[in-house]
Amino acid sequence: MQYGHFDDLKREFVITRPNTPYPWINYLGNEDFFSLFSNTSGGYSFYKDARLLRLTRYRYNNVPTDAGGKYFYIKDGDVVWNPGWQPVKTQLDEYECRHGMGYSVITGKKNGLKAVQTTMVPFGARAEVTRLTLTNESDADKAVSLYSFIEFCLWNAWDDCTNFQRNYALAEMEFEEGGAVIYHKSEYRERRNHYAVYAVNTKVDGYDTDRESFIGLYNGFDHPDAVFEDRPRNTNARGWAPIASHCIRRHLKPGETVSFIFVLGYCESPEDKKFVAPGVINKDDAHALLSQFRTDEQFEARLTELKNYWRGLLSHYTVCSGDEKLDRQVNIWNQYQCMVTFNMSRSASYFESGIGRGMGFRDCSQDLLGFVHLIPDRARARILDIAATQFPDGSAYHQYQPLTKRGNLGVGSGFNDDPLWLIFAVNAYIKETGDLTILDEQVDFDNDPSLRQPLLEHLRRSFRYIADHKGPHGLPLIGRADWNDCLNLNCFSKEPGESFQTVTNNDTGIAESVFIAGMFVCVADDYAQLLTIAKDEKEAAYVREQKALMVQAVETAGWDGEWFLRAYDAYSQKVGSHENDEGKIFIEPQGMCVMAGIGKDNGMAQKSMDSTEKYLEYEHGIMLNWPSYTTYRLNLGEISSYPPGYKENGSVFCHNNPWIIIGETVLGHGDRAFDLYKKIAPAYIKDQKLHRTEPYVYSQTINGADSATPGEARNSWLTGTSAWNFYAISQFILGVKPAFDGLTLDPCLPASIKELRLHRSFRGNEYEITVINQAGGEKGKVEVEVDGQKLDGQTVKAEPGKGRTYQVLVTVR
Ligand code: BGC
Ligand code: NOJ
Repeated sequence: MQYGHFDDLKREFVITRPNTPYPWINYLGNEDFFSLFSNTSGGYSFYKDARLLRLTRYRYNNVPTDAGGKYFYIKDGDVVWNPGWQPVKTQLDEYECRHGMGYSVITGKKNGLKAVQTTMVPFGARAEVTRLTLTNESDADKAVSLYSFIEFCLWNAWDDCTNFQRNYALAEMEFEEGGAVIYHKSEYRERRNHYAVYAVNTKVDGYDTDRESFIGLYNGFDHPDAVFEDRPRNTNARGWAPIASHCIRRHLKPGETVSFIFVLGYCESPEDKKFVAPGVINKDDAHALLSQFRTDEQFEARLTELKNYWRGLLSHYTVCSGDEKLDRQVNIWNQYQCMVTFNMSRSASYFESGIGRGMGFRDCSQDLLGFVHLIPDRARARILDIAATQFPDGSAYHQYQPLTKRGNLGVGSGFNDDPLWLIFAVNAYIKETGDLTILDEQVDFDNDPSLRQPLLEHLRRSFRYIADHKGPHGLPLIGRADWNDCLNLNCFSKEPGESFQTVTNNDTGIAESVFIAGMFVCVADDYAQLLTIAKDEKEAAYVREQKALMVQAVETAGWDGEWFLRAYDAYSQKVGSHENDEGKIFIEPQGMCVMAGIGKDNGMAQKSMDSTEKYLEYEHGIMLNWPSYTTYRLNLGEISSYPPGYKENGSVFCHNNPWIIIGETVLGHGDRAFDLYKKIAPAYIKDQKLHRTEPYVYSQTINGADSATPGEARNSWLTGTSAWNFYAISQFILGVKPAFDGLTLDPCLPASIKELRLHRSFRGNEYEITVINQAGGEKGKVEVEVDGQKLDGQTVKAEPGKGRTYQVLVTVR
């Protein structure tokens, strides 16, 4: 069943029914103000940090799921309705929601009245701005009342959920323009110098800021008394739950349109100018903000600016392949999702509360892969932020808080793959930009300036941390866990509620990870090359030597006969072996080791891919492990706590499917790689109802064959899947690979693609690339011509900042 479709020309997804199988959301905001915005106008806003600077309230685990948001209630005669259907849920005559790049448009129509709600977070504004347009499409005059509604949060969302004995006494408000401008200044009198504003650019007929007065103590959002009685209470909240609602009454003649602009903003005052009079806050910042959104023209200009920004950004990499699904996936939605994951890491979604996890060391590093070609400067800054949280011995905090940029010990450390991701990210950044100066940047360890060292030294310690922490088989020690947070080999947890991620109670110092070994090998060549470029031949030789040792360890102790083993547990027993009763084979080492080229020449890699296909693949993708665990295993941890087929226990954990896709391209299997790509790429989803989560973005997981609901996806949006899949499709299938010295062309295409055109911006030059595929579905020999000249090799050498356009012809025979 379908609930919507793509509009590629506008770069929008069009939702045609409000009751989607799950709330289908969009992310608004590009810089530091963000909103989560659902197709029924649910969601919340925050400035910089979803936990520490939340503007509006959102309740988790709610019934119904998506309750709370930026609502507009329309009272037209006796009928009350919302353009986005929720929360009143009056049956609409027409409904549509378009999620675009950084904005959303909801259109609702009822009884001849049409409402169009356009919501965006404009550039340069710490605000969410909505224009609501009402058009009387009927033949008769209409007297309409419009009520806006948002619910404020007391900034710290964790405290807001838990400490209401205090918070119910804190709310304070101020008003201007008869209630058109409403200020939430709770806690401003004490240690904050920021406040929120919710304003409309018109004269209002009333307002409310006390929730119970507006809604009624025994009502839900679906039946606010003030709206149904059409009688705003003009309340001034003092404590309890502060909201902001405007009441606007208008007469509309047939054909007449009116529009209003609502601004929800975050504002600050200088520390020494917080008040203009006793108890009266300094509103300069708010006034400056609101003056930018007084007119429709101003609103239009900012929306156009936003659209142009995205058009520009998405022009850095485009493909025209003849497969419209592939094109929309690559040109629009995958890149858009990469931006969102870069901004949010795993902090705030409809599955991540924004109050628990901060930014992941590993996650942020990986997100760079899909983002770095879009805004390399921000990628650079992010690398430096991540590296500054690293411990002096090279290991890492698993997460850090976006506002403070400090490591967060509450969520643990000692995930031994973490340090390698930093190398991965820096390699990717330098290949994209050629900017070697980043290696000389002085960066703190553990945010301590006295421990500051050049970034290159951070990389050195990262690599050596793994090389120096090996187990009995010469494989890397796993620590708390590796990429798979739930494979907890040193945590034998019997305590209800104990965190698998922070408890280490049985660290015998021998549990090893074949995955980390694969990753170590995978980063080694590039890293050694980088060291050579940085003129540290000695360290480069050490890295190559360590790589060779690791390859040897994997090929001996890490090989199970038909596939790569997953690990050795705390007793040195095999994990992911045919000898195991369950969890015989895992995806991660197959992907990572083959990507790293291990076993490419001796048949192991091919066998590993064959076994992956045979045991792990099903209709909806490649599952994480097979068979899923049916019982809880003390020696394995959280993985066996999930029912079979869910999450880390045997679902299609989409994030690592691209590792197999890339693995297939390493072995030259274009058809196989593309088939696997299509299995999980959203543009190819056939049954939106079965899939449930947004069909325009990747989800973290799709329930596996062993689950009760195969094919159903969960945890949409914030997943390493988007970066990895963009990396796989753009660099390994379509084959445009940034290298240290230039742009390498190395496609591995399916037989169905005979010819394609690509555009790539790279280090200040443009590349118009045509690829002719004469090789079919297996990778052939690649020949490259630039501006009519045959190239020796496959890399167009970089000539930074020339402003040139190269015509590149790639023929695969
Ligand atoms: C989840 C994982 C997550 C981990 C770390 C687990 O409960 O299942 O997906 O990575 O927690 O936060
Ligand atoms: C989600 C985490 O954010 C990511 O870092 C991890 O690799 C996967 N879960 C797998 O456990």
